[in-house]
Amino acid sequence: MNLFDITGKKAIVTGGTRGLGFGMAEGLMEAGCEVAIVGTSDKVFDVAKGFCDKGFKCYGVKANLAHREEVYRAFKECVEKLGGDLDILVTAHGIQRRHSAEEFPLNEWDEVIDVNMNSVFILCQEAGKIMLAKGYGKIINIASMVSWFGGQTIPAYAAAKGGVTQLTKELSNDWIARGVNVNAIAPGYMATDMNEALLDKNNPRYMQITERIPAKRWGTGQDMKGACIFLASHASDYLGGAIIPVDGGYLVK
Ligand SMILES: NC(=O)c1ccc[n+]([C@@H]2O[C@H](COP(=O)([O-])OP(=O)(O)OC[C@H]3O[C@@H](n4cnc5c(N)ncnc54)[C@H](O)[C@@H]3O)[C@@H](O)[C@H]2O)c1
Repeated sequence: MNLFDITGKKAIVTGGTRGLGFGMAEGLMEAGCEVAIVGTSDKVFDVAKGFCDKGFKCYGVKANLAHREEVYRAFKECVEKLGGDLDILVTAHGIQRRHSAEEFPLNEWDEVIDVNMNSVFILCQEAGKIMLAKGYGKIINIASMVSWFGGQTIPAYAAAKGGVTQLTKELSNDWIARGVNVNAIAPGYMATDMNEALLDKNNPRYMQITERIPAKRWGTGQDMKGACIFLASHASDYLGGAIIPVDGGYLVK
């Protein structure tokens, strides 16, 4: 048996329209999976078509995961497009809001917690129902360096990612003996739209961060593929509640 073989598996990747989600969706398709991607705008249909044009099986589902009813609808639509089954869930959607903690607006706090944490629980819960019923499934949440560090000017994001980290461990404890692995990838500093402000070469933080990364470069969606395929395959069957840094060595420096 090829431990990493995921040919024919059915996957949902939220945030699959760009950045890290795009990279992981592409990686899963290259490895033979059929993938439903979720995004906020009509762009999700263009991205899905782009993948289909390359010969992959990909479906686009448009939804705003800030709203609970949209989370349920998006999940249901994805599973329908995948023919009523699901093997792999990757929760790679997310937003960032930056303000000093003492002035952080509560409406933005609610938005970040809803998008980055509450929707993740609902998606895991719905995926878990299908996976537990057949005794097989792989859930891959996307954590962060602020699963360990506190961060600065990002209290809602740090709280949400801390929540996703703990949720990943809890779900693993509940489900691993029943065939469902729940783990997370914690990306380091990645060159995506989310970090537009930090990636500005005139921002002093850009060089400070780049210098601190032992790999001496920011990561990309491509860098997420290996860990994602590992966690989506039988190769990770005995892994539970692990938070795997994909960070160019940043965490241990
Ligand atoms: N970029 C980094 O350095 C970094 C580091 C650690 C963790 N992460 C996490 O990785 C994940 C992907 O981030 P990225 O860097 O690719 O960001 P990105 O901004 O490039 O992509 C975010 C994706 O999330 C989707 N999304 C945002 N709000 C949504 C909503 N309300 N409903 C549905 N979809 C929504 C967007 O459509 C997009 O596809 C996020 O969970 C993020 O927190 C990123």
